[in-house]
Amino acid sequence: MGGAGEVTMIILKTERDLAAMRPACAIARAVLEAVAAFVRPDLTTQEVDEYAADCIKQHGARSAFLGYRKYPCHICISVNDEVVHGLAGPRRLRFGDIVSLDVGVYYRGFVGDNALTVAVGGCSVEAQRLMDVTESALTEGIAQARSGNRVTDVSRAIQTCVERNGYSVVREFVGHGVGRAVHEPPEVPNFVDARSSARLRAGMTLAIEPMVNLGGAAIKVLSDGWTAVTQDGSLSAHFEHTVLVTDGAPEILTCSDRAALRWKA
Ligand code: MF3
Ligand code: CO
Repeated sequence: MGGAGEVTMIILKTERDLAAMRPACAIARAVLEAVAAFVRPDLTTQEVDEYAADCIKQHGARSAFLGYRKYPCHICISVNDEVVHGLAGPRRLRFGDIVSLDVGVYYRGFVGDNALTVAVGGCSVEAQRLMDVTESALTEGIAQARSGNRVTDVSRAIQTCVERNGYSVVREFVGHGVGRAVHEPPEVPNFVDARSSARLRAGMTLAIEPMVNLGGAAIKVLSDGWTAVTQDGSLSAHFEHTVLVTDGAPEILTCSDRAALRWKA
């Protein structure tokens, strides 16, 4: 981070860029919602990934994750104590599981990136509360994504919401700028970090994405090289939107009510 030669310029999107990025984000949302609705007990995560692949293709888009640093799946599917970057496979979803779905797509040269956690059929009150708090933390973070504020204001809003509710924010993974690439500067941590205090300006597009553990903050990455799990085995939830900083209110680009394109099963 911040090494010599590393690109640290934050790219401001023009209206022309946004004309392509808006549909990319709308597609990312439509796919995410379709996959969330598809999830049910007894499906394998491989079947969920295949459905997502089909859905992305139907929209004329392609996965922004497949092949990224050799990531082998179309979307990320993380179950229960899996935090992020869960890999699709023969595992069957069970009633009561919670599953985090992360969808990133390329469309007309731009990326839309978003995530949510859903219950498989139903879940415990405890799991539901974790999901609700994580989504609220995202909402509170987005509210701070205003021109003149700093990245730290977003981070603080998220951290405060999570910790006020007795949960922990993951530190090893962070939100990020997004645009022509999945990951652009700046990093957007879900905790206050003085190293990530860039000033926000209109035209910045940020993927804001709290990852929240019911227990401790510590995670580990499994031997598959990707799947991050909580070290204490506690549940984890993840919500993400791609957001445009404007001169006024933040604009959620991965918002379903702007998804002109809807997946029809
Ligand atoms: N939304 C995640 C991120 O922004 C997904 C990346 S998964 C990867 O970091 F496979 F592309 F790495
Ligand atoms: Co992201």
